[in-house]
Amino acid sequence: MRLETERLILRKPKMDDLDGYAELWGDPEVVQYLSGTTLPRDQVPNAIERMLGHWERHGVGLFSVLRKEDERLVGRVGYLLWDPERWANAMHERLDGDLELEIGWTVVRSLWGNGYATEAALACRDHALGELGRERVISLIAPENTASIRVAEKIGETLERRDVRGEAFTRMTVDLYSLTA
Ligand SMILES: CC(C)(COP(=O)(O)OP(=O)(O)OC[C@H]1O[C@@H](n2cnc3c(N)ncnc32)[C@H](O)[C@@H]1OP(=O)(O)O)[C@@H](O)C(=O)NCCC(=O)NCCS
Repeated sequence: MRLETERLILRKPKMDDLDGYAELWGDPEVVQYLSGTTLPRDQVPNAIERMLGHWERHGVGLFSVLRKEDERLVGRVGYLLWDPERWANAMHERLDGDLELEIGWTVVRSLWGNGYATEAALACRDHALGELGRERVISLIAPENTASIRVAEKIGETLERRDVRGEAFTRMTVDLYSLTA
């Protein structure tokens, strides 16, 4: 599974991406609105395995995003599946049935502000509404995460519901952005 944009390649994660993910998840600024805690390098392989497990079970998942010019890992952008009753996600437990498809984005700190998150998210949106045959995509975003809200708006998502509470959001509530084809 692979998507391509003008400047980026989106492909399934590989163990070779370890250095890039250690940089990404080891950065407190990057994880501020995600788990809130940085991930030690020795736990990165597990996290890559989890992303690959999601791809295997569901046929969709999070892509490693690479810059075409030098193959540097820009971040990870792609799909997460959610049970909309409990707001539990398929990265952490086995889920079946009708699941919401989230597009999520994370970029290494030194590359913020270059339009990479938007460019990769647009490719994911188009693929979801096209080949994947989805009619709706969502994004779950902390209300203070201005940059992420801008990305959601730039791909055409609008605020559907504030203050979503669920099993995955122990530290904070999030806002639900969505786009229906
Ligand atoms: C959110 C994130 C992925 C954006 O990545 P990015 O590649 O810098 O995004 P883009 O360059 O595509 O910028 C998107 C928009 O956000 C704006 N933006 C970027 N940083 C901003 C900031 N700190 N405050 C306000 N707006 C900001 C950009 O100006 C751009 O809008 P514009 O085109 O109208 O000017 C990045 O900040 C990140 O990785 N954050 C940490 C992880 C995270 O929180 N992910 C989202 C979880 S919901």
